[in-house]
Amino acid sequence: MQVVIVATPAEVGRLAAAKIGHLVRSRPDAVLGLATGSSPLAIYAELTRQVAEEGLDCLQVRAFALDEYVGLPPEHPESYRSVLMRDVVKPLGMDPSNVHVPDGAAADVAAACEAYEARIAETGPVALQILGIGANGHIGFNEPTSSFASRTRIKTLAPKTRADNARFFGGDLDAVPRHCLTQGLATIMSARHLVLVATGTGKAEAVHHLVEGAVSAMWPGTVLQHHPHVTVLLDGAAAGRLQLAEYYRQTYLAKPAWQGI
Ligand code: GLP
Repeated sequence: MQVVIVATPAEVGRLAAAKIGHLVRSRPDAVLGLATGSSPLAIYAELTRQVAEEGLDCLQVRAFALDEYVGLPPEHPESYRSVLMRDVVKPLGMDPSNVHVPDGAAADVAAACEAYEARIAETGPVALQILGIGANGHIGFNEPTSSFASRTRIKTLAPKTRADNARFFGGDLDAVPRHCLTQGLATIMSARHLVLVATGTGKAEAVHHLVEGAVSAMWPGTVLQHHPHVTVLLDGAAAGRLQLAEYYRQTYLAKPAWQGI
Protein backbone atom coordinates (compact mmCIF):
# COMPACT_ATOMS: atom_id res chain seq x y z
CA MET A 1 0.00 0.00 0.00
CA GLN A 2 1.43 3.33 -1.02
CA VAL A 3 0.38 6.24 1.20
CA VAL A 4 0.80 9.74 -0.23
CA ILE A 5 0.18 12.79 1.95
CA VAL A 6 -0.16 16.14 0.22
CA ALA A 7 -1.14 19.62 1.39
CA THR A 8 -4.61 20.15 -0.08
CA PRO A 9 -7.68 18.27 -1.36
CA ALA A 10 -7.05 19.88 -4.77
CA GLU A 11 -3.57 18.29 -4.85
CA VAL A 12 -5.11 14.90 -3.95
CA GLY A 13 -7.45 15.29 -6.93
CA ARG A 14 -4.64 16.41 -9.21
CA LEU A 15 -2.45 13.38 -8.45
CA ALA A 16 -5.27 10.89 -8.99
CA ALA A 17 -6.38 12.64 -12.18
CA ALA A 18 -2.83 12.66 -13.53
CA LYS A 19 -2.73 8.88 -13.18
CA ILE A 20 -6.16 8.44 -14.78
CA GLY A 21 -5.34 10.84 -17.62
CA HIS A 22 -2.16 8.89 -18.33
CA LEU A 23 -4.08 5.61 -18.32
CA VAL A 24 -6.73 6.88 -20.75
CA ARG A 25 -4.10 8.32 -23.10
CA SER A 26 -2.34 4.95 -23.26
CA ARG A 27 -5.58 2.94 -23.46
CA PRO A 28 -8.52 5.04 -24.76
CA ASP A 29 -11.10 2.36 -23.91
CA ALA A 30 -9.74 1.76 -20.40
CA VAL A 31 -12.20 0.38 -17.85
CA LEU A 32 -12.53 2.73 -14.88
CA GLY A 33 -14.30 2.23 -11.57
CA LEU A 34 -16.19 5.38 -10.59
CA ALA A 35 -17.06 6.49 -7.07
CA THR A 36 -19.59 9.06 -5.89
CA GLY A 37 -19.52 11.23 -2.76
CA SER A 38 -17.62 14.47 -2.22
CA SER A 39 -14.12 12.99 -2.08
CA PRO A 40 -13.62 12.23 -5.81
CA LEU A 41 -15.04 15.58 -7.00
CA ALA A 42 -11.57 17.16 -7.18
CA ILE A 43 -10.48 14.27 -9.43
CA TYR A 44 -13.39 14.82 -11.80
CA ALA A 45 -12.80 18.59 -11.82
CA GLU A 46 -9.15 18.08 -12.79
CA LEU A 47 -10.04 15.52 -15.47
CA THR A 48 -12.61 17.97 -16.84
CA ARG A 49 -9.83 20.54 -17.09
CA GLN A 50 -7.64 18.03 -18.95
CA VAL A 51 -10.49 17.39 -21.40
CA ALA A 52 -11.02 21.12 -22.00
CA GLU A 53 -7.39 22.27 -22.03
CA GLU A 54 -5.29 19.26 -22.97
CA GLY A 55 -7.54 17.38 -25.37
CA LEU A 56 -8.02 14.33 -23.17
CA ASP A 57 -10.55 12.13 -25.00
CA CYS A 58 -12.82 9.98 -22.81
CA LEU A 59 -15.38 8.98 -25.45
CA GLN A 60 -14.36 5.33 -25.49
CA VAL A 61 -13.70 4.97 -21.75
CA ARG A 62 -15.83 2.28 -20.15
CA ALA A 63 -16.88 2.60 -16.53
CA PHE A 64 -18.60 0.87 -13.65
CA ALA A 65 -20.13 2.61 -10.66
CA LEU A 66 -19.52 1.18 -7.21
CA ASP A 67 -23.05 1.43 -5.93
CA GLU A 68 -26.59 2.79 -6.20
CA TYR A 69 -29.48 3.55 -3.86
CA VAL A 70 -32.48 1.24 -3.85
CA GLY A 71 -35.85 2.93 -4.04
CA LEU A 72 -34.93 6.06 -5.97
CA PRO A 73 -36.05 6.24 -9.59
CA PRO A 74 -32.97 6.45 -11.85
CA GLU A 75 -33.92 10.00 -12.88
CA HIS A 76 -33.98 11.23 -9.23
CA PRO A 77 -31.30 13.96 -8.99
CA GLU A 78 -29.53 12.13 -6.14
CA SER A 79 -29.56 8.64 -7.65
CA TYR A 80 -25.95 7.73 -8.25
CA ARG A 81 -26.77 7.27 -11.94
CA SER A 82 -27.88 10.92 -12.12
CA VAL A 83 -24.93 12.12 -10.04
CA LEU A 84 -22.40 10.32 -12.24
CA MET A 85 -24.07 11.54 -15.43
CA ARG A 86 -24.00 15.13 -14.13
CA ASP A 87 -20.56 15.19 -12.45
CA VAL A 88 -18.55 12.81 -14.62
CA VAL A 89 -20.06 11.49 -17.85
CA LYS A 90 -21.22 14.81 -19.27
CA PRO A 91 -18.23 16.99 -18.30
CA LEU A 92 -15.73 14.35 -19.47
CA GLY A 93 -17.56 13.73 -22.75
CA MET A 94 -18.00 10.02 -22.03
CA ASP A 95 -20.54 7.92 -23.91
CA PRO A 96 -23.39 7.18 -21.44
CA SER A 97 -23.88 3.75 -23.01
CA ASN A 98 -20.36 2.81 -21.81
CA VAL A 99 -21.19 3.65 -18.21
CA HIS A 100 -22.82 1.04 -16.00
CA VAL A 101 -24.56 1.53 -12.67
CA PRO A 102 -26.27 -1.17 -10.59
CA ASP A 103 -30.04 -1.08 -11.20
CA GLY A 104 -31.44 0.08 -7.86
CA ALA A 105 -34.96 0.20 -9.33
CA ALA A 106 -35.00 -3.44 -10.51
CA ALA A 107 -38.01 -5.57 -9.58
CA ASP A 108 -35.68 -8.57 -9.19
CA VAL A 109 -32.79 -7.24 -7.12
CA ALA A 110 -30.87 -10.52 -6.97
CA ALA A 111 -30.97 -10.85 -10.78
CA ALA A 112 -29.84 -7.22 -11.19
CA CYS A 113 -26.84 -7.85 -8.91
CA GLU A 114 -25.91 -11.02 -10.81
CA ALA A 115 -26.22 -9.21 -14.14
CA TYR A 116 -23.94 -6.44 -12.86
CA GLU A 117 -21.27 -8.93 -11.78
CA ALA A 118 -21.52 -10.70 -15.15
CA ARG A 119 -21.07 -7.42 -17.00
CA ILE A 120 -17.97 -6.53 -14.97
CA ALA A 121 -16.54 -10.00 -15.62
CA GLU A 122 -17.21 -9.64 -19.37
CA THR A 123 -15.84 -6.10 -19.73
CA GLY A 124 -13.25 -5.99 -16.97
CA PRO A 125 -11.06 -6.24 -15.15
CA VAL A 126 -11.40 -2.66 -13.96
CA ALA A 127 -7.99 -1.10 -14.59
CA LEU A 128 -8.29 1.64 -11.98
CA GLN A 129 -10.94 1.87 -9.29
CA ILE A 130 -11.49 5.23 -7.62
CA LEU A 131 -12.55 4.88 -3.98
CA GLY A 132 -13.59 7.19 -1.20
CA ILE A 133 -14.07 5.97 2.35
CA GLY A 134 -16.95 6.51 4.75
CA ALA A 135 -16.29 7.83 8.25
CA ASN A 136 -17.20 4.34 9.51
CA GLY A 137 -14.68 2.74 7.15
CA HIS A 138 -17.08 1.63 4.41
CA ILE A 139 -15.94 1.43 0.79
CA GLY A 140 -18.61 1.45 -1.88
CA PHE A 141 -21.53 0.87 0.46
CA ASN A 142 -19.94 -2.12 2.18
CA GLU A 143 -20.87 -1.25 5.72
CA PRO A 144 -19.09 -2.63 8.82
CA THR A 145 -19.28 -6.45 9.07
CA SER A 146 -19.49 -6.84 5.27
CA SER A 147 -17.93 -10.09 4.12
CA PHE A 148 -14.53 -9.86 2.49
CA ALA A 149 -15.85 -12.44 -0.01
CA SER A 150 -18.91 -10.35 -0.91
CA ARG A 151 -20.03 -9.62 -4.47
CA THR A 152 -22.61 -7.11 -5.73
CA ARG A 153 -25.67 -7.37 -3.48
CA ILE A 154 -28.27 -5.43 -1.54
CA LYS A 155 -27.16 -3.84 1.75
CA THR A 156 -28.89 -1.89 4.50
CA LEU A 157 -27.25 1.49 5.02
CA ALA A 158 -25.75 2.12 8.47
CA PRO A 159 -27.36 4.96 10.48
CA LYS A 160 -24.05 6.90 10.31
CA THR A 161 -23.98 6.65 6.50
CA ARG A 162 -27.61 7.81 6.18
CA ALA A 163 -26.90 10.74 8.52
CA ASP A 164 -23.73 11.67 6.55
CA ASN A 165 -25.58 11.50 3.23
CA ALA A 166 -28.64 13.49 4.41
CA ARG A 167 -26.78 16.60 3.18
CA PHE A 168 -27.47 15.47 -0.38
CA PHE A 169 -31.21 15.29 0.41
CA GLY A 170 -31.64 18.80 1.79
CA GLY A 171 -30.73 17.58 5.31
CA ASP A 172 -33.89 15.42 5.42
CA LEU A 173 -32.87 12.07 6.97
CA ASP A 174 -36.23 10.51 6.04
CA ALA A 175 -35.54 11.19 2.37
CA VAL A 176 -32.32 9.11 2.43
CA PRO A 177 -32.94 5.57 1.17
CA ARG A 178 -32.42 2.73 3.63
CA HIS A 179 -31.02 0.24 1.14
CA CYS A 180 -28.49 0.16 -1.66
CA LEU A 181 -26.86 -2.14 -4.19
CA THR A 182 -23.10 -2.18 -3.92
CA GLN A 183 -20.19 -3.96 -5.48
CA GLY A 184 -18.92 -6.36 -2.84
CA LEU A 185 -15.51 -6.20 -1.25
CA ALA A 186 -14.33 -9.11 -3.43
CA THR A 187 -15.65 -7.30 -6.52
CA ILE A 188 -13.69 -4.17 -5.61
CA MET A 189 -10.59 -6.25 -4.89
CA SER A 190 -10.65 -7.66 -8.43
CA ALA A 191 -9.69 -4.26 -9.91
CA ARG A 192 -6.04 -3.95 -10.94
CA HIS A 193 -5.25 -0.67 -9.17
CA LEU A 194 -7.22 0.82 -6.29
CA VAL A 195 -6.86 4.57 -5.73
CA LEU A 196 -8.49 5.70 -2.49
CA VAL A 197 -8.81 9.41 -1.77
CA ALA A 198 -9.69 10.91 1.62
CA THR A 199 -9.54 14.45 2.93
CA GLY A 200 -10.51 16.24 6.14
CA THR A 201 -10.40 15.33 9.82
CA GLY A 202 -13.72 13.46 9.57
CA LYS A 203 -11.87 10.67 7.75
CA ALA A 204 -8.82 10.50 10.03
CA GLU A 205 -10.08 7.60 12.16
CA ALA A 206 -11.16 5.51 9.16
CA VAL A 207 -7.83 6.22 7.44
CA HIS A 208 -5.94 5.22 10.58
CA HIS A 209 -7.69 1.82 10.55
CA LEU A 210 -7.37 1.45 6.77
CA VAL A 211 -3.62 1.94 6.69
CA GLU A 212 -2.32 0.89 10.10
CA GLY A 213 -5.15 -1.01 11.80
CA ALA A 214 -5.88 -4.71 12.06
CA VAL A 215 -7.72 -6.20 9.09
CA SER A 216 -11.30 -6.49 10.28
CA ALA A 217 -14.79 -6.55 8.79
CA MET A 218 -15.64 -3.84 11.35
CA TRP A 219 -13.52 -1.50 9.20
CA PRO A 220 -14.28 -2.84 5.70
CA GLY A 221 -11.65 -0.70 3.96
CA THR A 222 -8.93 -2.68 5.77
CA VAL A 223 -9.44 -5.46 3.18
CA LEU A 224 -7.30 -3.25 0.90
CA GLN A 225 -4.27 -4.32 2.93
CA HIS A 226 -4.53 -7.61 1.01
CA HIS A 227 -4.47 -5.97 -2.44
CA PRO A 228 -1.14 -5.83 -4.29
CA HIS A 229 -1.62 -2.35 -5.80
CA VAL A 230 -3.29 0.28 -3.64
CA THR A 231 -2.58 4.00 -3.56
CA VAL A 232 -4.03 6.02 -0.67
CA LEU A 233 -4.03 9.77 -1.38
CA LEU A 234 -4.58 11.98 1.66
CA ASP A 235 -4.46 15.58 2.75
CA GLY A 236 -2.75 16.39 6.06
CA ALA A 237 -6.06 16.40 7.97
CA ALA A 238 -7.10 12.90 6.86
CA ALA A 239 -3.55 11.69 7.66
CA GLY A 240 -3.74 13.28 11.13
CA ARG A 241 -3.91 9.98 13.04
CA LEU A 242 -1.27 8.05 11.12
CA GLN A 243 1.56 6.87 13.33
CA LEU A 244 4.03 6.61 10.44
CA ALA A 245 3.01 9.82 8.62
CA GLU A 246 6.59 11.10 8.53
CA TYR A 247 7.80 7.85 6.97
CA TYR A 248 5.11 8.05 4.25
CA ARG A 249 6.07 11.67 3.53
CA GLN A 250 9.77 10.84 3.24
CA THR A 251 9.08 7.80 1.08
CA TYR A 252 7.00 9.83 -1.36
CA LEU A 253 9.59 12.63 -1.53
CA ALA A 254 12.32 10.08 -2.29
CA LYS A 255 10.30 8.38 -5.02
CA PRO A 256 11.66 8.76 -8.57
CA ALA A 257 9.35 11.05 -10.57
CA TRP A 258 8.99 8.51 -13.40
CA GLN A 259 7.22 6.07 -11.09
CA GLY A 260 4.16 8.31 -10.64
CA ILE A 261 1.59 6.86 -8.25
C1 GLP B 1 -20.79 7.32 0.16
C2 GLP B 1 -20.44 6.38 -1.02
C3 GLP B 1 -18.99 5.96 -0.97
C4 GLP B 1 -18.16 7.15 -0.53
C5 GLP B 1 -18.45 7.47 0.90
C6 GLP B 1 -17.78 8.74 1.40
O1 GLP B 1 -21.93 7.05 0.82
N1 GLP B 1 -21.26 5.24 -1.19
O2 GLP B 1 -18.59 5.46 -2.23
O3 GLP B 1 -16.80 6.87 -0.66
O4 GLP B 1 -19.82 7.42 1.18
O5 GLP B 1 -18.38 9.88 0.87
P1 GLP B 1 -17.75 11.32 0.87
O6 GLP B 1 -16.62 11.28 -0.09
O7 GLP B 1 -18.84 12.23 0.43
O8 GLP B 1 -17.30 11.58 2.26
